[in-house]
Amino acid sequence: MEEKLMSILVVGGAGYIGSHMVKRLIEQGQEVVVVDNLSTGHRKAVDEKARFYEGDIRNHVFLKGVFDRENINTVVHFAAFSIVPESMEKPLKYFDNNTAGMVALLEEMRDHDVKRIIFSSTAATYGVPEKSPIEENDRQAPINPYGESKLMMEKIIRWADQAYGIKFVALRYFNVAGAYPDGSIGEDHGPETHLTPIILQVAAGQRDQLKIFGDDYNTPDGTNVRDYVHVLDLVDAHILAINYLKAGNDSDVFNLGSSTGFSVKQMVEAAREVTGEPIPAEIAERRPGDPDSLIAASQKARDVLQWQPQYDDVKEIIQTAWNWKQQHPRGYEDR
Ligand code: UFG
Repeated sequence: MEEKLMSILVVGGAGYIGSHMVKRLIEQGQEVVVVDNLSTGHRKAVDEKARFYEGDIRNHVFLKGVFDRENINTVVHFAAFSIVPESMEKPLKYFDNNTAGMVALLEEMRDHDVKRIIFSSTAATYGVPEKSPIEENDRQAPINPYGESKLMMEKIIRWADQAYGIKFVALRYFNVAGAYPDGSIGEDHGPETHLTPIILQVAAGQRDQLKIFGDDYNTPDGTNVRDYVHVLDLVDAHILAINYLKAGNDSDVFNLGSSTGFSVKQMVEAAREVTGEPIPAEIAERRPGDPDSLIAASQKARDVLQWQPQYDDVKEIIQTAWNWKQQHPRGYEDR
């Protein structure tokens, strides 16, 4: 069968990042199959041109059925739990869904001779960085079960490559934000824990104020510094990674960030400018497990994948999230 008629399987395609990937792939004329158990994703986030299967990748019978029925040649794997504080309380939930889920997926890929996977890793695999900006070969020493579960996924896939020739690209995301610029899909977690959507809930009058988790960190203004990357730039990197593997290149890992750090206070200020709303904020206790600063060295993705992020200004990133928020104040309930 011709390559064109083959499908890309997007696992976790109803989630925040996965749904943006699905929409972009469909815009590019790709055949897309989505698997999602809807534990955190939204059915309405999935483009209607994708073929959707509701189920869990740890359910062997279910997953085998999808691979039997569909003509899959590449897997893009987003399905995971990703809330750091929750992982501290419920580590086994993370090792089960994230790590064991990856094993189940790789088994099915092996059995169906599917040889390419792109998957979401994270800056959390580095733990407290030994230097900044963080490069791909820097020490990986996670300080929470979430980061550990993702590091284990990276290790498992290396051995699966060695044994079965399953080629992979692991993309270590920094802080993903923003939405489809037309406001059609965006970020909607329940409960929401991420900074940008929480700031915008305050801007929209749905929360009284933002709590800034600590202002005594070792950073210029004392609040945590993070590297914010637009979800569509991230999606573009996945598409480049698919092409990179299709061209016969070897498995590899890449950081995905903008290489610029913004503090929590700077993010609030940027959001005030974008929204024109006052966005009250107060300093609160530190949240456990937050490193002072996380900034990506992303030159490798730029050099090797030819990745060229389009959003280099956090205000533009926040603006796209604000478009989504204004069109869908209660997220997918309003879609
Ligand atoms: N923050 C606040 N107030 C809030 C929410 C967040 O001050 O109400 C701060 C956090 O302390 C942190 C920053 O805003 O300094 C960003 O917090 P997020 O929760 O948005 O993002 P994290 O940096 O904690 O986590 C993100 C991803 C994780 C991933 C991690 C990798 O959400 O999945 O980056 O570093 F593991």
